[in-house]
Amino acid sequence: MTPPPKLLILVGSPRREGNSATLAEAVKRGAEASGAGVSLRHLDDHLSHFLRDCRACRCENGECSIDDGFRDLFFNEFLPADGVVFATPIYWYGMSAQTKAFFDRTFCYYAASYPDSAGVIRRMTRKRIGLLLASEETYPGASLGIVHQIQEYSRYTHSDFAGVVRGIGNRRGEVVKDPCGAIEEAERMGRELFVRKVSDYRIDTERAGGVW
Ligand SMILES: Cc1cc2nc3c(=O)[nH]c(=O)nc-3n(C[C@H](O)[C@H](O)[C@H](O)COP(=O)(O)O)c2cc1C
Repeated sequence: MTPPPKLLILVGSPRREGNSATLAEAVKRGAEASGAGVSLRHLDDHLSHFLRDCRACRCENGECSIDDGFRDLFFNEFLPADGVVFATPIYWYGMSAQTKAFFDRTFCYYAASYPDSAGVIRRMTRKRIGLLLASEETYPGASLGIVHQIQEYSRYTHSDFAGVVRGIGNRRGEVVKDPCGAIEEAERMGRELFVRKVSDYRIDTERAGGVW
């Protein structure tokens, strides 16, 4: 029997009961209902430094010398995951600094100066990726930069970008009142992340005429 897929949900807001975390919990419920193995982590618990100049910072044995919990999170949770959902508030029309720092810090281990960078690169690829956004504004343009960034991250890592849910709210947790049903959508993302149809055609992709 194939083991259930592993999903990692990374919350990039400093507010533990905030809207990103509320959307993340909804994904967790949905994914658990579908039988996936789920862990939900708050980036603030694991990451407290930005990327530095590896040349000045790397230990002699090639390890990163930045002393926080990023290494454990990256090796024990991110690399083994079959899918990752990033949950971030929209800050200044971009992702939170915590979320961005997570992406930047992966460099410490996929850079050629890390002894097993090839193994890391292999395990960074081919995941299912989801994105949860919490914002005060409903303006569609506010999310475009982040969506574009995650799309490019997914393309670069041969991953499948399976969906975005944007919930509107400002006070912590008020995204549950979003009349567009962000919580239900997030739960659905959790249920379907590993089975949802994802397509990204090229002109010569062989395909049937209909989709369903
Ligand atoms: C520093 C900062 C910048 C923000 N920038 C935006 C923004 O550009 N657009 C927006 O719609 N909301 C913005 N907000 C509001 C948050 O996106 C909103 O409160 C969101 O629900 C917070 O998510 P959280 O509860 O997960 O922290 C900003 C909030 C902060 C603290």
